Amino acid sequence: MLFRDESEARKQAEKLRKEINKHDRLYFQENNPEISDAAYDRLFRELVDLETEFPAIKTPNSPTARVGAKPVAQGISEVRHDPPMLSLDKALDPSELFDFESKTLRFLRSEGQLDYFTMPKFDGLAAELVYVNGKLSLASTRGDGEVGEDITANALTIADIPKSIKLSPFPKAFHGEIKVRGEVYMEKAEFLKLNEAREEKGLPLFANPRNAAAGSLKRLDPKITKRRELRFFGYGLWLPDISSFKGYSKLMAALSEAGIRVESSTFTGLVKGMEAAKEVFDGIAEKREELPFEADGLVVTVEDLSLWLRLGSTSHAPRYAVAAKFKPMGAQTKVLAIEVQVGRMGALTPVAVMSPVQVGGVTVSQASLHNEYELRSKDVRVGDVVVIHRAGDVIPQIESVVLEKRKKDSVPFEFPKNCPVCGTEAVRHQGEVILHCPNKNCPAQIEARLIHFAGKDALDIMGLGPANVSQLLSMDLVRIPTDLFRLKSADLLRIPRLGEKNATKLLESIDKARTASLWRYINAISITNVGTRTSQTLATQFKGLKELSEASKKELSSLNDVGQKVADSIYEFFRSPLNREFVGDLLDGKLGIAPTLDEPPANGTAYGLRFVLTGKLPTISRAEAKSRIMAQGGSVSGSVAKDTDYLVVGEKPGSKLTEAQSRGIPTLDEEGLLRLLEGKDKQ
Ligand code: IVH
Repeated sequence: MLFRDESEARKQAEKLRKEINKHDRLYFQENNPEISDAAYDRLFRELVDLETEFPAIKTPNSPTARVGAKPVAQGISEVRHDPPMLSLDKALDPSELFDFESKTLRFLRSEGQLDYFTMPKFDGLAAELVYVNGKLSLASTRGDGEVGEDITANALTIADIPKSIKLSPFPKAFHGEIKVRGEVYMEKAEFLKLNEAREEKGLPLFANPRNAAAGSLKRLDPKITKRRELRFFGYGLWLPDISSFKGYSKLMAALSEAGIRVESSTFTGLVKGMEAAKEVFDGIAEKREELPFEADGLVVTVEDLSLWLRLGSTSHAPRYAVAAKFKPMGAQTKVLAIEVQVGRMGALTPVAVMSPVQVGGVTVSQASLHNEYELRSKDVRVGDVVVIHRAGDVIPQIESVVLEKRKKDSVPFEFPKNCPVCGTEAVRHQGEVILHCPNKNCPAQIEARLIHFAGKDALDIMGLGPANVSQLLSMDLVRIPTDLFRLKSADLLRIPRLGEKNATKLLESIDKARTASLWRYINAISITNVGTRTSQTLATQFKGLKELSEASKKELSSLNDVGQKVADSIYEFFRSPLNREFVGDLLDGKLGIAPTLDEPPANGTAYGLRFVLTGKLPTISRAEAKSRIMAQGGSVSGSVAKDTDYLVVGEKPGSKLTEAQSRGIPTLDEEGLLRLLEGKDKQ
């Protein structure tokens, strides 16, 4: 935008300051940003430009005059940072890397090229760890750069943060106090797992891994922080004099030698000249989805530490580093409708139906708005143009509404008070944000439960997707899920366009499902508060559905991972008059329902082994690999850790491979995995 006079510029600057202050508050205090970092950077950049063009409009309390926003969190004490934790200057377009280089050379009155150290820009939270005589004595968040929050108790629960470090890599004079700075973050896989579990429990979801990490790190109860696996990468070291290290790469090597985890993908390292740094940027920009963590750019830092001293810092950022930011993965599209869907447990979920749009290489036409509160706080309306983003690079999400494009006559979406399918008045369970349709006989719930019963995480009946399920229901061929086991060939042949061949196949898959594993059955029957994970736990503790149905509340709640609420739901499920027929079918054996025991006898070929998968396997899907491993008593987790036994490597492995190699964890290809599962290889 171009401003002709100062008063116009002043007005615009005031508007921008208000906006920026609001977003600072949402980001730093509420951990609930409404706009992307890229959108924030644009606002900030516009304000800087305006103030540069019209210096008279600058104010002392303009966001450009400070480093960040003031931290406020109750129950947590403040920590002053010395020196302050600065921000980084940004290159919003990679070509600006070359502007950084020429500016730097001009400042140094030098020519030619410099060496740079590149490292992904982690999208988590900056933290400072103070080691006194090698022992961790204080951990704090960045806060506003000057003052952060004490998070020592929580940091102690993060496995990547050592309680003590080796001092030999550092000059003796500084052993007394060493300040390590780095990023606390949550891996994408962990974020997805956490949100899945929260969705199951009806809790509000985290918008992205960074918010999840912030929410977990700032918990007052360190036990909760521990449960949410957070990770840490070191990226800096503050000593009174760092010049003895000569180069940033040497400093990073010392950090690693001391026992601090540092990033070690091919994107971290020393390069000669900005052209080479730009190549690293192009490489990581292309591969960003494959990284196990969220990155929002590449930090390019001058290697020579003696130049750091000459270049110094502004009040905002060091002059020896620049963060080249990725193009936002967001895309704009129009909301065509907002539908309220009814889940199998009756949850009413608003979903935005949009004009199809490409986001990070995937076509998106629907996005969940999660619940009434999220919908209201984002204020998404039919007809709005919205910005779509893929959280953790996976789940499409509406990030914000483009207010400038909103039609004048648009009205806020009115969340229905009744179930949109059966009309029953919706209710809210205590302590939950989600509205429910309480009618267990609601046709939408019956259909959703049947789809789930046959679905991938349940009995996995091939050929029985949503379309065939609705046919079966509308033709009255099925009323309760176990009716599937009563279907005859003649019934299926009545389904239009199914054909004899498919009907036979479908009957075969249904037949196979009679002996599906026990955890699949437990998950399939839609017990409130029981999802995949709980089902798997339960399946290791009971011999069959009958034993589960006879368990007392006390017995259930004494199991690991099963709380009182879950125990009550299970107990009531098997006794509810509404489920009498269904439970009868499951337990009386007449339909041939005989779940296979999951917990393999202790001689399962993968018994007790922990696997991590990376990359695409050539012939089997990840889900299949996972269920085969579990069938043999093994477990699969999302990230490489100390106790990982094997990394299974497919095509295009992510940085899990480097991680496993650096920890000396053995790897297997698909063939090796299958051999191991078949018991052909010694473990
Ligand atoms: S700083 C001057 N490196 O960016 C030494 N910061 O630091 C250069 N950030 O909010 C290294 N990843 O949390 C550096 N690899 C990285 C980073 C990084 C993320 C964040 C940090 C802070 C901001 C400024």
